[in-house]
Amino acid sequence: QKGRFAHFMIKEAFDQPESVVNTMRGRVNFNDYRVVLGGLRSQLANIRRSRRIIFSACGTSFHSCVAVKSIFAELTEMPISVELSSSFLDEQLPIFRDDVCIFVSQSGETKDTLLALEYCKERGALCVGVTNTVGSTISRETHCGVHINAGPEISVASTKAYSSQFIALTMIALQLSDDNMQKVARRTEIINGLYRLSDDLRKTLELEPQIKQVAEQLKTARNLIVIGRGYQSATCLEGALKIKEVTYIHAEGILAGELKHGPLALIEASMPIILIMPKDRHYSDSENALKQITARMGKPIVIASAEDTSPLFNDLQTLRVPQTVDALQPLVNIVPLQLLSYYLAVARGIDPDSPRNLAKSVTTA
Ligand code: UD1
Ligand code: BG6
Ligand code: NA
Repeated sequence: QKGRFAHFMIKEAFDQPESVVNTMRGRVNFNDYRVVLGGLRSQLANIRRSRRIIFSACGTSFHSCVAVKSIFAELTEMPISVELSSSFLDEQLPIFRDDVCIFVSQSGETKDTLLALEYCKERGALCVGVTNTVGSTISRETHCGVHINAGPEISVASTKAYSSQFIALTMIALQLSDDNMQKVARRTEIINGLYRLSDDLRKTLELEPQIKQVAEQLKTARNLIVIGRGYQSATCLEGALKIKEVTYIHAEGILAGELKHGPLALIEASMPIILIMPKDRHYSDSENALKQITARMGKPIVIASAEDTSPLFNDLQTLRVPQTVDALQPLVNIVPLQLLSYYLAVARGIDPDSPRNLAKSVTTA
């Protein structure tokens, strides 16, 4: 089942060039730039008429929602919010009949997400599922939805489900916006990016030997911070979660826009830092963050675009990833962090497939 791999986590990370294709198969037509999700057909008009969209999920699935929030809002021009399933219920958020609530869950069985679903159904909202498990409770209980078709995910730490959830959510936004002529150029750009994605992921996975070395360097670290902004906000949170889950290193995702509002106090020569810095519209802000970090003797490892020749990287270690469309770049940039968390676990003598205290599916609230 694991083939040439020692653990499911690394096998599933390496599944991604294929699993992302399986998520898009029969749904994205790369010839006429159309996206058709069979599972949404009957409710498309209702979703477009709704007044807002609220995402609800836990853990990595929550991060996939955070990751697509801004492209979803840009394409659909609807108010979007993203809520942890547990806080959704804690806060008893007001939900109305003209709301659409999207529940994202790999297993389709997470108790908190299921409770949030029941809460929204009782209030008359249209409930949409994005699940990996056909026949799961969330798949059955939602009014309609999309199966992400990533294939079974065994590893407790989610990898390929994250990328496939991200793509499924992006496909929903593409389909919802295909009646908006002003979005044609943007939609075309994204669909072309989706076409190249599998190759981009394959190239990114070639960083494996370099990442193994980085893991050797960092294996005794007690803390690690992952910094980025904009489209990479979710990548920071998800990268830090992966590291916590399987390495037990205290890792924190920090949004670069917040650096000077507190986290800058953590920066010193001995603090391990990963800075995610793609060539997108936030690049000059990221340059500023990098200067603030190096001015305080921080020496970040930078996840940078393959083509980026910035002299700011001269004294720094870089992990070079293929550049894609800004809104899809998180799919590429999460991969080095998945591999790093895996190799850190191995270097620290931890079995990444069975991290202490965690379960693959949390079916109690
Ligand atoms: C469906 C078939 C797929 C087939 C394809 C051919 C299933 C499970 N899928 O895929 O095998 O190749 O047609 O056209 O038989 N749903 C929910 N909640 C969720 C996820 C899905 O209610 O969380 C519902 C959908 O609204 C839909 C059904 O489940 O009614 C199947 O969804 P999905 O597998 O995504 O549909 P297709 O991609 O059309
Ligand atoms: C658990 C898993 O905490 O549940 C995580 O260990 C996962 O990997 C989270 O992200 C949510 O699970 P699901 O199945 O609802 O996506
Ligand atoms: Na259903």
